[in-house]
Amino acid sequence: MRIGVVGGGQLARMLAMAAYPLGMQVTVLDASSDASAGQVADLVHGDFSDRKALGRLADASDVVTFDFENVPAASADWLAARVPVRPGARALEMSQDRIAEKELFTRLGIPTPRFAPVDGTADLEAAISVTGLPAVLKTRRLGYDGKGQRVVRDMSSAMEAVEQLGSGLVLESFVDFERELSIIAVRGMGGEVAFYPMVENLHRDGILRHSSAPATATAHAQDARDAVERLLVELDYVGVFTLELFETTDGLLANEFAPRVHNSGHWTIEGAVTSQFENHLRAVAGLPLGSTAPRGASVMVNFIGSMPDADKVLSLPGAHLHDYGKRPRPGRKLGHATLNAPAAEELDPVLARLITIARG
Ligand SMILES: Nc1ncnc2c1ncn2[C@@H]1O[C@H](COP(=O)(O)OP(=O)(O)OP(=O)(O)O)[C@@H](O)[C@H]1O
Ligand SMILES: [Mg+2]
Repeated sequence: MRIGVVGGGQLARMLAMAAYPLGMQVTVLDASSDASAGQVADLVHGDFSDRKALGRLADASDVVTFDFENVPAASADWLAARVPVRPGARALEMSQDRIAEKELFTRLGIPTPRFAPVDGTADLEAAISVTGLPAVLKTRRLGYDGKGQRVVRDMSSAMEAVEQLGSGLVLESFVDFERELSIIAVRGMGGEVAFYPMVENLHRDGILRHSSAPATATAHAQDARDAVERLLVELDYVGVFTLELFETTDGLLANEFAPRVHNSGHWTIEGAVTSQFENHLRAVAGLPLGSTAPRGASVMVNFIGSMPDADKVLSLPGAHLHDYGKRPRPGRKLGHATLNAPAAEELDPVLARLITIARG
């Protein structure tokens, strides 16, 4: 089986590494010639809308998937006319526009923060009357790692934020959550669904810092699974799917979904019977899914902006280091480490040391 991946970042790299034992051949498409996944898989160098490059990817693949959802719809459609594309173009499209995504949540009865479109300062008063204050102003498209977002606390900071972000925005209520959770599922070609345990995520400045799995008990796990099931069926989805959630005292609110493997699932490489990467490949290749059961407790820490000393990380008990081979840049995800232990209590002291090491 030859797998094509649109996008050659660390997610594609980890997909490629999971593909080798399965005897799969991976080709990635990326605009950068030193793409992370290009170090471990064949690279087609080109833009996501470059038809020549897309054609080379299609020719090299029996099935095409994505490590990045912001692929132009025209490119996804063009590929789909030539090779099976999983998940399909509709899942990508829905995840590309925060308003389409939130309307989909609402239509499926999945609670989400109150929201309103904003295309200029003239819309602000009406939007704030829907969301209240504080609120978060976000670009509808192309945001990631908290980029293109501003928390607004009053009319004047809202005006300023609109001036900075431009048009094509959405204002949403600021959620005073207890914690952030995510749930990762995989759906096979026959419609079978398996769920990983819920993950607790800590973000700072809009970027994921740590993920702990399984999350300590939540009263809302069934609500999360129900929401994901509805989305998977609605999107006729195949592959790994992630729903990001805010847990509040009144229950869960859906933040956004990712039609792909997810940073909050990296722990599954060492911490689950079958990793999210292997299960995504199994799903898109039409193979049986593997067990999503956790092996004990895991915590993953992202390395952002700089890589720590490998010696120090690897001296910690139960630590696994992943270096994506990316050039350092402030705010860039360069690698991660996962700690595993039979029980969560054993992780705490080691996590504290890992966090210190990660800060340099
Ligand atoms: N309405 C909100 N209320 C409170 N916090 C929020 C809200 N929206 C976003 N955040 C915070 O900012 C983080 C990033 O937001 P969001 O997931 O919308 O952005 P993103 O840029 O698409 O991030 P990524 O792609 O990295 O998940 C959230 O995980 C959360 O910590
Ligand atoms: Mg997010």
